[in-house]
Amino acid sequence: MADTRIEAVVFDLDGVITDTARFHYAAWKQLAGQLGITIDEAFNERLKGVSRMDSLEEILREGGQQDRFSLEEKEQLASEKNEQYCRLLTQLTPEDVLPGIPEFIASIKAAGIPVGLASVSRNAGTVLESLQLGPVFDYIADAALIRNSKPDPEIFLTACAGLGADPRYSIGVEDAPAGIQAINASGMFAVGVGKQLPGADYLVQSTDQLCWEEIRDCFFQTLLP
Ligand code: BG6
Ligand code: MG
Repeated sequence: MADTRIEAVVFDLDGVITDTARFHYAAWKQLAGQLGITIDEAFNERLKGVSRMDSLEEILREGGQQDRFSLEEKEQLASEKNEQYCRLLTQLTPEDVLPGIPEFIASIKAAGIPVGLASVSRNAGTVLESLQLGPVFDYIADAALIRNSKPDPEIFLTACAGLGADPRYSIGVEDAPAGIQAINASGMFAVGVGKQLPGADYLVQSTDQLCWEEIRDCFFQTLLP
């Protein structure tokens, strides 16, 4: 079966390409603790794919502190979290690319299909640099220019537009419920990595199970009348 009708594959970064999700969680947990708010891993699932300021708002709401801080104070809190996150990021090396990802991307590129990145993280450039993966992506959507974080489809649509791809013939890869919702809303085919991702058109438990031929065939099955 030819690959010619698949026009792009667009990846999330945190939790798909590398496990920075644990650093985001650690940094938020520390900040929340300082505010007297307890968050656990189940709550953290809600923050995946959600922008920095929206994540802070969620945490403050969780602690019943949504009206406690001014906008300036909230910006200060978000930047404290980011400083801690960036400190943790210094540990990241090319060895931290998740298993199977280099091979999966290589198969896609060997099929002549362009590869994009749709992360709402403003640290995406730093993360890709630490992983030495920047040049692999044909287009990286700029999170600083995105108005709406996931579950809004904006970042995936921006990545498709940047690659000149029709979202209906493109595939998105995500680890977070908000990310799968964003892919669904964009009209793309959703590949989920992880558990409890309703809405994924194709689901694997971990990145080392990502197999391009299987995903390609599953995508074409969905196009059949
Ligand atoms: C997403 C993460 O990729 O980026 C979220 O899943 C994070 O957890 C968001 O809040 C924004 O990241 P940053 O690096 O701009 O604070
Ligand atoms: Mg993610």
